[in-house]
Amino acid sequence: MSIRTSTFSHSESFKQIPPTIIVIFGASGDLTARKLAPAIFNLSKDELLPSECFLIGYGRKKISDSQFRDYLKMSLDAHSRRDIRPETWSRLVQNISFHAGEYDDLESFKNLSSKITEIEKTLSKEVQCLFYVSTPPGVFKPILENLGASGLAKRHRRKEIESKVIIEKPFGRDLMSAKELNNIVNHRFEETQVFRIDHYLGKETVQSLLVQRFANSIFEPIWNRNYVSCVQITVSENLGVGSRGGYYDRSGALRDMMQNHVMQLLALTAMEPPSSLNPEAIRNEKVKALQAIKPLVLGGKSSEIVRGVYTQGLVEDEKAKGYLQEVGIPSNSTTETFAALCLQIENWRWKGVPFYLRSGKRLARKASEIIVQFKRPPEILFGLDSKYSLSPNLLVIRIQPNEGITLYLNSKSPGLETRLQPIELAFGYETTFGSNTPEAYERLILDSLNGDGTLFIRGDEAETSWGILSPVLDYWDGLGVLGLEKYASGTWGPLEADKLLLARGHEWLTGKKYQ
Ligand code: BG6
Repeated sequence: MSIRTSTFSHSESFKQIPPTIIVIFGASGDLTARKLAPAIFNLSKDELLPSECFLIGYGRKKISDSQFRDYLKMSLDAHSRRDIRPETWSRLVQNISFHAGEYDDLESFKNLSSKITEIEKTLSKEVQCLFYVSTPPGVFKPILENLGASGLAKRHRRKEIESKVIIEKPFGRDLMSAKELNNIVNHRFEETQVFRIDHYLGKETVQSLLVQRFANSIFEPIWNRNYVSCVQITVSENLGVGSRGGYYDRSGALRDMMQNHVMQLLALTAMEPPSSLNPEAIRNEKVKALQAIKPLVLGGKSSEIVRGVYTQGLVEDEKAKGYLQEVGIPSNSTTETFAALCLQIENWRWKGVPFYLRSGKRLARKASEIIVQFKRPPEILFGLDSKYSLSPNLLVIRIQPNEGITLYLNSKSPGLETRLQPIELAFGYETTFGSNTPEAYERLILDSLNGDGTLFIRGDEAETSWGILSPVLDYWDGLGVLGLEKYASGTWGPLEADKLLLARGHEWLTGKKYQ
């Protein structure tokens, strides 16, 4: 068994990848067109994939190789961050094919296996397979079972080139279904072969969070209950559900965003320093931080949860319809498009520091931010007199857009009178490093081919996160429409979300205090 080092050590990440076959299940779907095909081709353009790299699309539609190739070409023209030159395309296109088959038909998987063996024979080399499960979650189970039954899961087991499987979100829809899915996965694959994807972990700024925390000595000593007053994580979108109403209405903000993306940001912010950059060392610490979260108070005066649904309003000066008027949404839907939580992490570092999380659609603007709000200095010299208006120090980590970090400090504004004013020490990714950084899916596909699970969710991590949120889902299910607060599109969500913080002496900072 090879020793796996983390994605943070670049020499390892960019090692030579052996001949590879990437099989995408759900190949004619939206994700393949918008994200997966562009990521694979940009990796190829950067020569990070081997020249012997094959792409097999697997899907139920009976389409020919050439139809699939045309579809991919169109997708790339529409979505790739860089142009694909004709000569690059003509080199790649020969290695693209389509395999039509049902997901619950073992024969189709056996045929796929024969196709893979054929490729190996032609190359006279052993090939590693990456199976990308990018279908609706309803067919995850038969695909995983048939990968097992056809022997594809076991190809070259325990060698560097053992089969790998990427599983798209959602990984389950509650704790029980996540456990069931983990059972199916664990019967067919070793955990080292499994890559549960959360594309937020592939974002450049999210990867950088660990570096900021642990490659700088000034943050760690103050990253705890003695100095931090609260942590706020906002992942807001100004878009509505668009054409995804059918999927979204069965999901909602808690399942779609909170359980995965937002909880991952929390885990990275709250975790203890890992003992090494080994993927397991990092993921162990994330799991420990999640395990330390106290069960949420669901009802009554000290309730720690808020949910809402958007009504019509103005988003960036454009009229937006309400959720219930969106295509595919039943008029009696009780699905939340906004959720806010106040979590308490019961460990030595964080006891007493609220972690406020919120995520929603049709909010005022798109923003993913982590804000660490520090305690006020003692009001002895400044702060007693209102003219000094002492603001708390803030560390704002902007994941997107306008990626960067800003530290807010109090300073004296120029003049003969002493007046305090918050000032910004700001770092912007684009200003410092330029634009056109790789997309999250590029990083994640490359890491999975390298067998590096650092930026993926381990089975126990998914279950721990569901363990915190499943009771909330059950509670809301029982309430029906009761407590589902309305908010106008283009605002920052329901008033109750503001009250959640006000009751604890805080206020949301993203979108309010500063822009
Ligand atoms: C996806 C959700 O996981 O993340 C979508 O299913 C959401 O509903 C999207 O719009 C947001 O991703 P990003 O990268 O645009 O912030």
